[in-house]
Amino acid sequence: MTLSLYPDLPTLESDRLILRKMSLEDAPDLFEYASDPEVAKYTTWHPHQSLEDSHIFLNSILKKYQNHECFDWGIVHKADIKLIGTCGLVNWVLPHYHAEIGYALSQRYWGQGYMTEAVQALLAFGFQKTDLNRIQGRCKLANRPSARVMEKVGMKFEGILRQQMFIKGSFHDMNLYALVRKDWENLSK
Ligand SMILES: CC(C)(COP(=O)(O)OP(=O)(O)OC[C@H]1O[C@@H](n2cnc3c(N)ncnc32)[C@H](O)[C@@H]1OP(=O)(O)O)[C@@H](O)C(=O)NCCC(=O)NCCS
Repeated sequence: MTLSLYPDLPTLESDRLILRKMSLEDAPDLFEYASDPEVAKYTTWHPHQSLEDSHIFLNSILKKYQNHECFDWGIVHKADIKLIGTCGLVNWVLPHYHAEIGYALSQRYWGQGYMTEAVQALLAFGFQKTDLNRIQGRCKLANRPSARVMEKVGMKFEGILRQQMFIKGSFHDMNLYALVRKDWENLSK
């Protein structure tokens, strides 16, 4: 695995977005959307109650950057010069060369193709700059926008994982999508 080539998380760029490391200065922008109950409706985390919650989250990310064990990017809107979300490659399973995507976006920016654009950049990084062979994503069945993002980037629906996650006090069925390197190469032709 060529992970060691990335002791520092690289900055990625797409047409409208910059994906970069987060810093404590992002706390106000992060809090602005992470405190929105609609954003946290389908996530594993609860809405942030105070700026302190955003600091705690960012500090945990900074610690992981230091240990070179974090592939979480802040999503910056180029024109607005504002952190509008996060996305990442998480749950790396090195012996099997796979990882998983995760993301959240400020409600103000929903429905304009931003997360599709960010995930395309993540997949390009994952398949072009590391040896990952499979990148998967899971979402609750009711989270159609998240499923659409995965469909739009070409990830294939693999089925429903029954009661696979225990989130906020109950078990949830999860849609499973994935792209393997072979699919990615075909998509990129
Ligand atoms: C999921 C999320 C990241 C999508 O971001 P986004 O930038 O709005 O996504 P895009 O604009 O690229 O695509 C969204 C797609 O969902 C569709 N959509 C939006 N609301 C929908 C709904 N209620 N039902 C069906 N489709 C819906 C949009 O029309 C679009 O599809 P289209 O391009 O075919 O029209 C965003 O909704 C979000 O942050 N949600 C809260 C956090 C979250 O759920 N994270 C994922 C956990 S698995």
